[in-house]
Amino acid sequence: VGVAGFCGAVGKTPLILIPSLSELTGCEIYGKAEFLNPGGSIKDRAALWMVNAAIADGKLAPGGLVVEATAGNTGVGLAHVCRAKGMRCIFVCPDHVSDEKVNHLKLLGAEDVLRVERLPASDPGNYQNVAKRLAKENNGVCLDQYNNLQNMLAHVESTGPEIWEQTEHKIDGLALASGTGGTIAGCSKYLKQKNEKIQVYMANVISSGIAMNGGTTEEREELEKQKLSFSETLRERFEHEKSGVSTVMEGIGSSVLYGNLAHAIVDGIFECNDETGVQMCHYMLKYEGIFIGGSAGINLVAAYLLAKKLGPGHRIVTFLCDSGSRYASKIYNPEWLAEQNLDVCDETLR
Ligand SMILES: Cc1ncc(COP(=O)(O)O)c(C=O)c1O
Repeated sequence: VGVAGFCGAVGKTPLILIPSLSELTGCEIYGKAEFLNPGGSIKDRAALWMVNAAIADGKLAPGGLVVEATAGNTGVGLAHVCRAKGMRCIFVCPDHVSDEKVNHLKLLGAEDVLRVERLPASDPGNYQNVAKRLAKENNGVCLDQYNNLQNMLAHVESTGPEIWEQTEHKIDGLALASGTGGTIAGCSKYLKQKNEKIQVYMANVISSGIAMNGGTTEEREELEKQKLSFSETLRERFEHEKSGVSTVMEGIGSSVLYGNLAHAIVDGIFECNDETGVQMCHYMLKYEGIFIGGSAGINLVAAYLLAKKLGPGHRIVTFLCDSGSRYASKIYNPEWLAEQNLDVCDETLR
């Protein structure tokens, strides 16, 4: 009866039909309610899988230290999992991560939470490099959610199968933005193996850097050697386009083709922007009573665009990655929105 502890409660989230968006498009648009995970986001899955694998490999044991680079949600998931398994944790976040998330991490027992300037991956001051260095200096383990394929595996083994079952094997499209790429890689891998016709579209937040020149030449050559399934379209984007990582959305957008993202099987890309994503968040709260974070807003915009592209009669799934409560001082704060020049015209879709 019931599930075992925090870790046992991760996953098996409901698939919520979004009636208004479905009606507008003639499709069925569903959001997987990842904000209902016990740590409040989709990243609980990756956190659990990475820690379990590190324990199985003998790298982590009770009393051990995890040092992770995180936009916040992976940190929250890890902080819960570490407490549940008697481990310690320290986090390094990029400087745009909200105060709510940093305070939350401290409240959950993180020994330290550093916020560092957003710098290119090649810079020693880049938050991922700082986390790796701190782990080494403190005898800890950096789980490296960007390249640790346990992140993708969490979605191959849990999220993908849940979506397949919940849609009763009838799903036409998946649309979502990517951070580490764990979700898009794991779900595309699993679902396309079940039905190769399922269309997977990535939402690129304009100027998020997702299309920026990806990594060093050596990193790209290494990925090339591994003959990964990363779609040609997306690979070209990484190789030929340049932009800065400047989206206001937390947890999505990247300037490097990370190990997890490199496994994504993507049919196409939708260009989205911060403002439409923010408008979708406010629309969802006002007309559907669903309180979501910014990446979920972008995901729903992408789901809407995919529904329009495929035409009526299709079933589209996306992810409601976390709750709007994590962004009370940002996306849901009129002063912050005015500072960012973001207009919350939630009538756009009506
Ligand atoms: C709020 C939010 N949305 C989306 C994502 C992206 O998920 P993934 O890293 O699996 O690409 C993250 C990742 O940290 C996140 O925190």
